[in-house]
Amino acid sequence: MQLFKRVDQLQSFLNAERVNNRSVGFIPTMGALHAGHLSLVKRSLSENQITVASIFVNPTQFNETSDLDRYPRTPGKDLQKLAKVGCNVAFLPEVEDMYPPGHNTELKIDLSGLDARMEGAQRPGHFDGVAQVVKRFLDIVQPENLYMGQKDYQQQLIVKQMIRVLDLPYRVVTVQTAREEDGLAMSSRNVLLDTEARQKAAILYQTLQEAKKRLIKGELPKDIETWAMKAMTQPGFRPEYFSIVDGYSLQPLPDQEELAELVVACTAVWAGEVRLIDNLPLRGNM
Ligand code: PAJ
Repeated sequence: MQLFKRVDQLQSFLNAERVNNRSVGFIPTMGALHAGHLSLVKRSLSENQITVASIFVNPTQFNETSDLDRYPRTPGKDLQKLAKVGCNVAFLPEVEDMYPPGHNTELKIDLSGLDARMEGAQRPGHFDGVAQVVKRFLDIVQPENLYMGQKDYQQQLIVKQMIRVLDLPYRVVTVQTAREEDGLAMSSRNVLLDTEARQKAAILYQTLQEAKKRLIKGELPKDIETWAMKAMTQPGFRPEYFSIVDGYSLQPLPDQEELAELVVACTAVWAGEVRLIDNLPLRGNM
């Protein structure tokens, strides 16, 4: 596996590869890699000749410095994991190279209100930071295929929207959520859970699955949301939102919810000091 820390080095490597018409798949990450991230890398390896994974804890998408400081960083282990699955290129840029002086960090993309609710409402400016860094990475790597996880449902939708609005020539592949045995969605933040919170954390997925059953039985989305918030309010657990939305617009479902082709439930829950998110399509396929 090749390791690059500088933009110009990565670009000259990729330019040489492109002469041979090699297709490039790209996976942006913030590191502390787990099997969920690696499933994106493996998917890219199966669909491209060159797979590039980046590790960059992007400061512009964190609302709180404490969250940024606390974000787990394990670059040595990450590189071993990437090499083990056969990733071709690891890209670990420095902040100064991603956002050089004079670089337009104010890029404002019309996200069509997809950033207004749920994660966007709870974390102002978060998705502007995500869009900005993904755009910068795409400009650098120019992959044929970009791999994003369904785990961050709103994020993958926003990245697709950005690509559409800016008319960029990249295909986005959304890879389904990898879970632990008890159903907890894999996340870099899971290592921050204490033993008790970790044991109870499967409640997110259990609640999402039960919500699916209830929707199929004909219960109203509003009632399911209320039930779910209550079900996840437990000692040490504080749900922030449980929203059943149209899977394309992220808007609440209209009264005739049966008309929505894709219905997704998205949730964020505080487990002690750790914020967990998860989602599940309740009807239709992504
Ligand atoms: P990060 O949280 O490191 O996630 C990197 C990618 O891995 C994202 O596309 C995310 O959705 C995916 N992923 C995380 N956990 C997953 C799981 N359990 N199953 C499947 N995919 C999973 O998301 C980010 O970083 C950043 O916002 C980033 C896009 C890199 C921009 O900074």
